[in-house]
Amino acid sequence: MWDRFLRACRREPVDMTPVWFMRQAGRYMAEYRAIRKNHTLIQICKQPELATEVTLQPVKAMGVDAAILFADILLPLEPMGAPFEFAAGEGPVIHHPVRTRADVDALRVIEPEDGLGYVLDAIRMIRRELDGKTPLIGFAGAPFTLASYLIEGGKSSHYAITKRLMYREPEVWHALMGKLSEVVRRYLRAQITAGAQAVQLFDSWVGSLSPSDYVEFIQPHVRHILKDIETTSVPVIHFGTDTATLLELQRDAGGTVIGVDFRTPIDEAWARLGTGVGIQGNLDPLLLDAPRELLTRRIDDILRRIAGRDGHIFNLGHGILPETSPDAVRFVVDYVHERTRR
Ligand code: CP3
Repeated sequence: MWDRFLRACRREPVDMTPVWFMRQAGRYMAEYRAIRKNHTLIQICKQPELATEVTLQPVKAMGVDAAILFADILLPLEPMGAPFEFAAGEGPVIHHPVRTRADVDALRVIEPEDGLGYVLDAIRMIRRELDGKTPLIGFAGAPFTLASYLIEGGKSSHYAITKRLMYREPEVWHALMGKLSEVVRRYLRAQITAGAQAVQLFDSWVGSLSPSDYVEFIQPHVRHILKDIETTSVPVIHFGTDTATLLELQRDAGGTVIGVDFRTPIDEAWARLGTGVGIQGNLDPLLLDAPRELLTRRIDDILRRIAGRDGHIFNLGHGILPETSPDAVRFVVDYVHERTRR
């Protein structure tokens, strides 16, 4: 069944539970490292042939039920006027962090066709290569997660500069979030027009905020994106981590499917979210590195809690780590398929 992932997003019956992984293309695969030897991450993203090849690697090698576009959530920052690089061992570095009203005013609200056309070209090429056999997921970063990189200038542990700006200068904050959310809304729409059959919004770091702060500073902007994307026929996965106290608020902001991290039991999360959404995620990525006996017990536990309910997509609570063995990834795909065959 080529579309079991899309059917599960819509909470329709499936022949077996669909499986895909966040970061399913990446350094844990020798095929990816071979391409990375000769190209930077950004070069791979900017050359549709390379992005297509890397996107297809896990589809071929792992038998996952969806492909995810190979790109990065930070790509829109460059055409908006905030160039960055991936420094070896440090992660992303934004050359001129955004910290003042003038910095925010200088950011451009771009049209995705200008500046991100290479992503849209990659989507069209990937769709051709997949030839209707596997659905393609597009994605973007959510405004808070993007703002945290823009303001901090890179990765952060406490988001102190971000939160100071948010609390002390709410007007500047909302102006920044307004620009980011409009770019992300246009970008996801453009990805869908180019051929993405589902999209995921990555709010990876939003769990660093309280529910009150989420409602006041984040939710209106995420809602701006997702209520618009929900008017297309394409499913939207709304994902974050450390979101145990935010799940209902994220659902209210929008999404066909809600992503849950590994900290909340999946049945409790789904009971709180209600019958109107599907659910994705939940296995701790480090369990892929655990002995098979423990890994299978934890998978069985997730499947027991789901109890065959329509609308479940098997995934990790966060991305695959570079040290993980490809064998473990392939094992999980086969095991979940076998255990859930209807
Ligand atoms: O999931 C996939 O297979 C699709 C590709 C994808 C990448 N980044 C490629 C990538 C996706 C969906 C992302 C999203 C992304 N990027 C997020 C949200 C998801 C999450 O993990 O929470 C974030 C926060 C980023 C920003 C980012 N990109 C960071 C912090 C880093 C450095 C991390 C590191 O481990 O060095 C990246 C680099 C990056 N993006 C890699 C990949 C495969 C690392 C590989 C490399 O350097 O070759």
